[in-house]
Amino acid sequence: MDLTTEYLGLTLANPLVPSASPLSKNTDSVRKLEDAGASAVVMNSLFEEEVRAEDQFMDAYLFNQDIGHLEADSYRPMVDDYQTRIDEYLAQIFSLKQEVDIPVIASLNGITTGGWIEHALELQEAGADALELNVYHVAADMSQSGQDIEQMYLDLLSALREKLRIPMVMKLSPYFSSVANMVTRLEAGGVDGVSLFNRFYQPSIDIETREVSPELHLSSSQESLLAMRWIAILSGRVNITLAATGGIHKSEDVIRLLMAGADVTHMCSALLINGPEYLASVLKEVAEWLEENEYESVRQLKGCTSQRHAVDPVSYERSNYMQVLNSYKA
Ligand SMILES: Cc1cc2nc3c(=O)[nH]c(=O)nc-3n(C[C@H](O)[C@H](O)[C@H](O)COP(=O)(O)O)c2cc1C
Repeated sequence: MDLTTEYLGLTLANPLVPSASPLSKNTDSVRKLEDAGASAVVMNSLFEEEVRAEDQFMDAYLFNQDIGHLEADSYRPMVDDYQTRIDEYLAQIFSLKQEVDIPVIASLNGITTGGWIEHALELQEAGADALELNVYHVAADMSQSGQDIEQMYLDLLSALREKLRIPMVMKLSPYFSSVANMVTRLEAGGVDGVSLFNRFYQPSIDIETREVSPELHLSSSQESLLAMRWIAILSGRVNITLAATGGIHKSEDVIRLLMAGADVTHMCSALLINGPEYLASVLKEVAEWLEENEYESVRQLKGCTSQRHAVDPVSYERSNYMQVLNSYKA
């Protein structure tokens, strides 16, 4: 069975790629993912906030050293001894590249085009095979229009595109007025792929303390239908990698997303719940299903039920809404 797939110009052994999670922080768990059959790995993110805070700290440190008393200089720790979060992240890339054979995708998480993005080049130089850019932005500023926000994405892409030669994939939120239009504009802006969709974590309110508290719930299989619809709509209409993320737990989810047109299927919650070894059983079931259904390759399956190839293309759009509601049996 030929399980290979194309992802950002790389040929991967199969479509199962663990997405950014605490599992990729640790070389041992990445090795376990690779042993289970993961064909690439996305690293946990380096966050804009972390990079900015550190850049500010270093600027202040160097400035104070400049204006400090000469006799006190010898008591200050040397700047070279200070291990920044960026240093740590670069060391993590380096170590993963030494320890595993699968492609390592670095991940940046941010939204603005400030000086922090200079560090993207360091990720490339440390050996990252590609960069995933997670634009986690909650559009709460009332003076900002949808167009302004879309422009922020495009500006960030263009600033990074100018610097990097490695492929770039953008992990997008589903909250665009027109997802399809946004993806085509990102394609025109030079992105190599999109990962659909970023999962937004909703804060909750503790009704006793009245405090707003962040809540992290892992996903369920049902959530993968959101990515499935949009991948089906985009498949064959854009020439970039389509990665599916969110709610991919079982082999059925993987198969469905491949049918819709995904090039790779990311898993996070399912691996956190069941452990890295779980990936092997999903991969085995996907291969068995292909065999039983007389497919020779993943490529053959990819996109067979995209909107362009579906028997009933309107099922992916509103026209089916009424029938869905009417199908409810009390
Ligand atoms: C504990 C945890 C940590 C995560 N860390 C990151 C991260 O650093 N960067 C990122 O882009 N996504 C991160 N994610 C999001 C996942 O990569 C993934 O997109 C999301 O969980 C949806 O996929 P799933 O349904 O398979 O869990 C994290 C998710 C979880 C649960």
